[in-house]
Amino acid sequence: MREIVAVLDFGSQYAQLIARRIRELGVYCEILRHDTSKDELAALAPKALIFSGGPASVLDEDHPVPDPRVFDMGIPILGICYGMQLTAIMLKGKVIGGRSGEYGHAIMKVTKPSNIFSDMDKELDVWMSHGDRVQELPAGFETIAKSSGCEIAAMADPSRQIYGVQFHPEVVHTPKGKQIIRNFLYKVAGCKGGWTMAGFIGESIKRIRNTVGKERVICALSGGVDSAVTAALTSRAIGDNMVAIFVDNGLMRAGEAEEILDIFTREYPLNIHMVNASKEFLDALRGVIDPEKKRKSIGKTFIDVFNREAERVGGARFLAQGTLYPDVIESRSPRGGPSATIKSHHNVGGLPKDMKFTLLEPLKELFKDEVRRLGKELGLPDRLLKRQPFPGPGLAVRILGEVTEAGLKVLREADLRVQEEMQNYEHIDEVWQAFAVLLPVKSVGVMGDERTYSNVVAIRAVTSLDGMTADWVRIPYHILERISSRIINEVRGVNRVVYDISTKPPSTIEWE
Ligand code: XMP
Repeated sequence: MREIVAVLDFGSQYAQLIARRIRELGVYCEILRHDTSKDELAALAPKALIFSGGPASVLDEDHPVPDPRVFDMGIPILGICYGMQLTAIMLKGKVIGGRSGEYGHAIMKVTKPSNIFSDMDKELDVWMSHGDRVQELPAGFETIAKSSGCEIAAMADPSRQIYGVQFHPEVVHTPKGKQIIRNFLYKVAGCKGGWTMAGFIGESIKRIRNTVGKERVICALSGGVDSAVTAALTSRAIGDNMVAIFVDNGLMRAGEAEEILDIFTREYPLNIHMVNASKEFLDALRGVIDPEKKRKSIGKTFIDVFNREAERVGGARFLAQGTLYPDVIESRSPRGGPSATIKSHHNVGGLPKDMKFTLLEPLKELFKDEVRRLGKELGLPDRLLKRQPFPGPGLAVRILGEVTEAGLKVLREADLRVQEEMQNYEHIDEVWQAFAVLLPVKSVGVMGDERTYSNVVAIRAVTSLDGMTADWVRIPYHILERISSRIINEVRGVNRVVYDISTKPPSTIEWE
């Protein structure tokens, strides 16, 4: 049985970060609902439990609690922030509401030696974010650290191996936080470690082979990282019995479809079935102006084409999909259901649930950065793994108004200049996306002695951690200048370039 640590999620924005830190330390970790029962936990046999922080207060009625029997499981527990207060109150200590609270940097002093602070300085920089605090310890506990705003900044019951820290060891603002988590895993919980990408590949290959046997698997390749890694891993497991279907919708950037085909036929050969459906997509988009209708039309066309091609490939029982761990936990988080539809997202993961295939989701335990590492380990090229995110509906949502062949040509040309010139930006690795948008607006210009009346192109470049929020990039003027002059001089049909300086929210990254 593989070694596992479970994080009970009380709604913390940092729950995923805790899990990632644990995995970085070589221990496999899963995030579970805060109220997962003792019996379900016992079936998983975790080496330790971590209670995450959370936005609630233990002083409120109806605050989220774990199954109280988890304290009797005899496995080490670490409560973080709300998780510490919860531990205190459930074991009959006392928590009070802080009038002022403690937010941001704090200095913590270790007041008593403890396993979780082993091999560390007596004074540590930590990140605090709490209103409530523990005032009286439960029986069997002792104070092991204090801070200026908090007499009990960390507590321990060494005999039962239950610990609580008021600060957040998982965030980068607690510089030695990872050492505390390492101590908890290895010195307290006795983890052995050894969870690595190479190990994951071996396990996944076995699992895929066992599930699939001699059956055929199809996979929709989008050109994005997740579907490419899914296809590569599945192909590593079952060879040519995995057929990657790549639908060229005619809405990709300059040279993109060719590049994907090149990678998967020459550099990293897979059983790939490519279909050029550009005409079908463009026909479906004719006359469509409303952004939501565009997205729906593209989604529907994709499903039609994919079904047809799957039939052509024939005999597949399984569909491999690049679902990631955050998608899985999002659907069961106490933070609640899906938020309002801002945009109907279309991607290859958006295939309808009622398809006649059995789903295979070999990445569903991984975070995005782990998928990139896995891709690297599998030998996929950087030009694929380092791709900026690209929306499923492609350039169709970057041409405002009707999508036409002519518009696509202008936008591809303009976007290519953006891509090329942005390579000269020294912080390009920090850019989430940079691209051109074709506006349905004409303005007057003058070229030579002639008056022109042509389209406007907008440039969008943003930094973002996860696409949920974004800031515009302060691109140096000399790079903006090159982008602008090259587009206006080299791309026919454009005589003005503007730069989009809106943040998300309230704007979105894509214009449609
Ligand atoms: P917005 O425009 O909503 O975009 O701020 C956030 C991020 O999501 C990408 N995006 C999509 N990705 N299918 C995708 O796979 C889609 O339909 C889609 N629409 C937007 C967008 O490029 C940005 O990174």
